[in-house]
Amino acid sequence: MGKCPDCGEWDALREHVVAHTAEDRHRPLVAPTPDQPVVLPLAEVRPDATRRHPSGLAEFDRVLGGGIVPGSAVLVGGDPGIGKSTLLLQVGHAVASSGRKTIYVTSEESLGQVRLRAARLGAADSPMLAAAQANLDIITHLLQKEAPDVVIVDSIQMVYRPDMTAAPGSATQLRDAAARLIWLAKQMGFALFLVGHVTKEGAIAGPRILEHLVDCVAYFEGDRFHAHRLVRTVKNRFGSTDELGIFEMTDGGLVPVADPSRLFLQEQRTARPGSVILAACEGTRTLLVEVQALCAQSVFGAAKRKATGVDPGRVAMILAVLEKHAGCVLGDQDVFVNVVGGVRVNEPAADLAIALAVYSVLTNRSLPEATVACGELGLGAELRPVHHMRQRLAEAARVGFSRFLSPRLGRDVPPPGAKTIELSTCENLNHALRHLH
Ligand code: TYD
Ligand code: MG
Repeated sequence: MGKCPDCGEWDALREHVVAHTAEDRHRPLVAPTPDQPVVLPLAEVRPDATRRHPSGLAEFDRVLGGGIVPGSAVLVGGDPGIGKSTLLLQVGHAVASSGRKTIYVTSEESLGQVRLRAARLGAADSPMLAAAQANLDIITHLLQKEAPDVVIVDSIQMVYRPDMTAAPGSATQLRDAAARLIWLAKQMGFALFLVGHVTKEGAIAGPRILEHLVDCVAYFEGDRFHAHRLVRTVKNRFGSTDELGIFEMTDGGLVPVADPSRLFLQEQRTARPGSVILAACEGTRTLLVEVQALCAQSVFGAAKRKATGVDPGRVAMILAVLEKHAGCVLGDQDVFVNVVGGVRVNEPAADLAIALAVYSVLTNRSLPEATVACGELGLGAELRPVHHMRQRLAEAARVGFSRFLSPRLGRDVPPPGAKTIELSTCENLNHALRHLH
């Protein structure tokens, strides 16, 4: 462009290079070794030993897939105020107390604030090291000098590279700062925890753009209005995804919830239309949750459908199956489906519970008392087997339920260990609906 669109001057524009090459990014850290072979037969590659050490919070170990892996990078995301700093300060304190050198780098709070929070958590005399620093160059030098075992950066969004013109928190800064820290973690072998705020408007870049860079991604789910906090793994190179850590926020920080099924059911055992108890499987955890439905005459033309805690697309499909195969008329009904307690259930095994809840509120009937349901629904209203039936049955029996509505069991599923639970297997949706009275 020869002419400046702003002032109309010709030839006044100057080129400014702000992008750096990939090599340039890692420049101060390492020189490539010329004698290193570039390709190797896979058989000659020495496997990385995945030793793990505990984080000090068993519930967080579950989220990580069994503990902290040295040299790994973990992204912990969530809404502001949900408890990210609290969780990582607790983890940092526990790891440091077990004799591992731990550095907590705070880029948005002062050291005094961190110390105040630590006092609240009973970690005022923690051996953990702390630094208030947002400059990536200084952080890098600090880490190279101290050679820690575990590093927590809270938050990565405020860390910036001083020689880049992009604003802190911008996509370029965020990706670059994270990439350099992760690279350093791999080189030096420390475990790296990055805190990222999830932003709603996307005014500043969210942690999602870091997901492919890190080994493990865990997000806080739900909202701040519940006392409990759910942390779910959405990616894990060293373990399974969909692991769910369940904590309660107390005056003394986050404490693991001993019996989540009881927490979510809260003594809700009496049968009532529109309420069905679901045995859900999230990662290696089985828990019972209450699925609620409400139908109401819609006022303005198009009927509303609202789903909280389950996939709205799945709910739409289930409503269509109910209309087509169970004779429900839902065209003039607003339908609300909700999982109590802010849990998200992603698996299709929730289908049957959703269908039963909607049908039950529509017909004002309810399931027999102490009944649990689960099963995947097909478009032809057939019920498909779901995995982990054995664990689901065991959990339902343990919490004191006496009847279980399920699809036909797969051949590899042994009969329920607990004799106290009566199993009713159903071929299709209409078989299951007959249990409503
Ligand atoms: P925080 O960890 O600072 O959230 P984030 O880092 O995700 O923004 O803390 C969130 C909330 O937790 C805050 O409102 C205060 C509350 N809280 C407790 O209830 N108990 C505690 O022991 C602590 C440290 C915080
Ligand atoms: Mg914080």
